[in-house]
Amino acid sequence: MSHLECSNCGQSQSSEVLATVSVCCGKPLFARYDLEEIRPRFQPTDLVGRRSDLWRYAEVLPTGPTGSAISLGEGFTPLLEAPSLAARVGVRRVWIKNEGQNPTGSFKDRGASVALARARELGVRELAIPSSGNAGAAAAAYGAALGIRVHVFVPMDAAPIIREQILAFGADLCHVDGSLIECGAAAREAAERNGWFFYATLREPYRVEGKKTMAYEVVEQLGCRVPDAILYPTGGTTGFIALWKAFAEMERLGWIGAERPRMISVQAEGCAPVVRAWEQGAETVEPWGEVRTYASGLSAPTVFGGSLTLRVLRESDGAGVAVPDAAMADWVQVVGRETGIFVSPEGGAVAAGTRMLRERGLLSEDDEVVLFATASGLKYVGRKPR
Ligand SMILES: Cc1ncc(COP(=O)(O)O)c(C=O)c1O
Ligand SMILES: [Zn+2]
Repeated sequence: MSHLECSNCGQSQSSEVLATVSVCCGKPLFARYDLEEIRPRFQPTDLVGRRSDLWRYAEVLPTGPTGSAISLGEGFTPLLEAPSLAARVGVRRVWIKNEGQNPTGSFKDRGASVALARARELGVRELAIPSSGNAGAAAAAYGAALGIRVHVFVPMDAAPIIREQILAFGADLCHVDGSLIECGAAAREAAERNGWFFYATLREPYRVEGKKTMAYEVVEQLGCRVPDAILYPTGGTTGFIALWKAFAEMERLGWIGAERPRMISVQAEGCAPVVRAWEQGAETVEPWGEVRTYASGLSAPTVFGGSLTLRVLRESDGAGVAVPDAAMADWVQVVGRETGIFVSPEGGAVAAGTRMLRERGLLSEDDEVVLFATASGLKYVGRKPR
């Protein structure tokens, strides 16, 4: 890593001090690497025989697999082709990136493993995180592994299994009366009062770095190709932004050319601030009012990285689709029956969204799509559609 860069104006700042948002604009920071220097020794053929977790991409991560980082086996999840699901949704090929196989059962382990390792290198010993559940569980796990005390602020209706998980990792679990907005305020206040690090979505640069490995994996697993479209369940939108950053890096590394997948943001009908902004052709994402969905990963009413997210939609000729809870639940069943994979409601949402976009003519029968099943259905057992 060479430096951090403001995502708004491009100004550089040091990556050797603990950073939150950019000092110039108060916007998300991106880690930058000397990709020209890395390029000769970091090609897909160099990955053969490497460790089968996300640290196989160490050259483009802010910290290394030895030293400060501790692996619980995060990343390098299977990319599974699902021909009968493809027939059901009406596209040529469907691949499921099964993130439910991560250590705590969701893709949040990618962000937490990298960001907490880097935070610890920079001196963090205690942090507060607002979360709808999965990110809190991931932070709690890596906090336990790395020796960081973690305080997780979740809404009252967080999934019971995820709450158990957070407690099992020895983290401090605080219930907040309200949505993720109130959790964020409570976590920030507690962090400021106690001198803890405030670890919130896109308000520190390294969660993006962990999550971007999903795109490196898809390209590696497809044999240096990109799919026609990626359907991603977007909440805080870190994952969505991270994938797009990774494609740009891979082009500069010579792994791919200028081709890009269309980036499709899938949200819940009861919380769809990004989809609404995309439909209106807006430049900013306005906060959503009352949140109503059982897909807790999609219950983010405010989007700090909203303009970055809309930029990805524009630059990729992407699209947005909002899925009702009932359809998510139906498609969890369809995915299960057609593939043998038990996905969470967010995974049901991307499958349902694929079908909906086909019906609207926004995907074609010739398309090859990658669906991100971001968590295991086991984490949501007992939750009912709202
Ligand atoms: C299962 C699941 N999918 C998707 C998301 C949304 O991820 P992001 O914040 O990267 O948009 C979350 C976030 O909580 C999640 O838990
Ligand atoms: Zn700036």
